[in-house]
Amino acid sequence: MQIIRDLAPLRDAVFSLRGQGGRIALVPTMGALHEGHISLVRAAKARADHVVVSIFVNPMQFGPNEDLDAYPRQEARDAALLEQEEVAVLWAPTVDVMYPAGFATSISVSGVSEGLCGAARPGHFDGVATVVTKLFNQVRPDVALFGEKDYQQLAVIRRVVADLDQPVGIVGVPTARAEDGLALSSRNAYLSADERARAVALPHAMQEGVARLEAGEEAGAVLADIRAALERAGFGPIDYVELCDAVSLAPVRSLAAEARLLVAARLGTTRLIDNFPVLPDRKM
Ligand code: PAJ
Repeated sequence: MQIIRDLAPLRDAVFSLRGQGGRIALVPTMGALHEGHISLVRAAKARADHVVVSIFVNPMQFGPNEDLDAYPRQEARDAALLEQEEVAVLWAPTVDVMYPAGFATSISVSGVSEGLCGAARPGHFDGVATVVTKLFNQVRPDVALFGEKDYQQLAVIRRVVADLDQPVGIVGVPTARAEDGLALSSRNAYLSADERARAVALPHAMQEGVARLEAGEEAGAVLADIRAALERAGFGPIDYVELCDAVSLAPVRSLAAEARLLVAARLGTTRLIDNFPVLPDRKM
């Protein structure tokens, strides 16, 4: 595996992989890799001849009071994991390479990026859309893989790619979970042992909610019960507990089309997010 930090050698490496006759898949990450990231790498391998993984903790997507400085960085360990997965290139640019002096462009997506995490984290999705577009232009992959774990991010990226005619296929990969159901996340490392034990209330309350919604219960009552279950488990503040259209992410109250249940809530100082599909009435 080549570890590359500058644009010229990246372009050379991608050119030579393509010359060997291959489709290239990109898996963008911020590092501190876990089994969720590795599941994206494996899905990438199944869809392309060569896998490029990027690790870049993107300052542009962190708010002024967020965890940019504390975000876990462990590149040597990450590189060893990716080597085992037979990744061709680890693209790990510095902040100066990604955002040279004078950088002044931002990609802003309206609609799908405005509610949910977009409301709680102003500017976050502009930072994501901008860096992901840059990564696409740098690597020029045939396909790029993103986790459903960050469901709104996936929807925003699909929007950008469609709107800007970017020649890349976007693949969403289901959320990898710990045995007790908690979605794997680099931020789980912030949880104390006690918080980690209580965190399981999040997927449990949500799965119970999904079953009730799919059984036809009224959405307002179900969402209120999920909120109450999270508060009992010590979560707070709760940014949102919302049922949305699976594509537009507009809030819905009935299951005419596929919907998504999405939650963001703080446990201590750690902000956790999760989401599940909610399918239209299966009995019909
Ligand atoms: P990061 O949080 O490192 O996540 C990298 C990719 O891994 C994202 O597509 C994310 O959805 C996916 N992922 C995280 N946890 C997962 C899980 N439990 N199961 C499946 N996939 C999971 O998301 C980002 O980085 C950044 O915003 C990025 C897209 C790299 C842009 O900076």
